[in-house]
Amino acid sequence: MTVFKVKNKDKRSSQEAQFIYSPFLILEMDWKSGRLVFVAKRTRASSRLQQLASEKLLPLGKFSIFGRNISPKIKPLKMMKQIIAFGASNSKNSINKKLASYVANKMEGFEITILDLNDFEMPIFSIDRENENGIPPLAYEFKNHISNSNGIVISFAEHNGSYSAAFKNIFDWISRIEKDVWNSKPMFLLATSPGGRGAKTVLQIAKSKFLRMNQNTIASFSLPSFYANFSEERGIVDESFSRMLENELKKFTDALQKTNVRR
Ligand SMILES: Cc1cc2nc3c(=O)[nH]c(=O)nc-3n(C[C@H](O)[C@H](O)[C@H](O)COP(=O)(O)O)c2cc1C
Repeated sequence: MTVFKVKNKDKRSSQEAQFIYSPFLILEMDWKSGRLVFVAKRTRASSRLQQLASEKLLPLGKFSIFGRNISPKIKPLKMMKQIIAFGASNSKNSINKKLASYVANKMEGFEITILDLNDFEMPIFSIDRENENGIPPLAYEFKNHISNSNGIVISFAEHNGSYSAAFKNIFDWISRIEKDVWNSKPMFLLATSPGGRGAKTVLQIAKSKFLRMNQNTIASFSLPSFYANFSEERGIVDESFSRMLENELKKFTDALQKTNVRR
């Protein structure tokens, strides 16, 4: 089901209106009250949609509700930009997952989804596996999270100076779906470790690779000595690191302002 928003172009209303387009029906929703004001069968609605398409339609993505039992009252959709965040680690108590969640949750006015790489465990990538069995469905699922988001926050665990195997495996699989792995979304790359270098080596690797793949803004921040500088209750406790983080976060949120709401 696809939702379209029409800006002041609908002759019957000067308000913004919302059109919900399903295989069966097209519904028009009063933007302010959230009431359904128009219902038609798809065949009749199609020409109306085409007319609207020739005006300025802004597709908002997927929306799965209703079926045939339509409630006369529908809540207006929350029009929030979507952020996905994850620690690039499969450790249950990942400090990078904690940092990624902390940073994403600092961002007010966005819908935040925290992913766990354990939910995307796949066979180790090999070209032979791909040729024999294709790309695993979990890779497509992960990729959907990327393409349906407005921005991406990743905090990298450093394993022997590089990506964790868990992240690299997902990265390899999704890179087989589409070359533009990160779909040109603004990214905030983070890294932390218990040691004093704060996993800077893997952060540099990720940043230089992603800068070549993605023309959009890529902000970055590394937090050294995680256990000394981070508190579960208060977040980053060191003031200078906190300031550095805020500066990079601003770069990221400024880039997000330029993106359209996705649904
Ligand atoms: C196999 C392995 C290799 C590691 N290599 C590094 C390393 O190169 N640099 C580093 O700073 N920490 C290294 N560490 C320590 C990690 O920074 C530490 O385990 C951290 O908690 C990983 O992040 P996570 O908790 O998000 O998984 C390594 C840990 C493991 C298990």
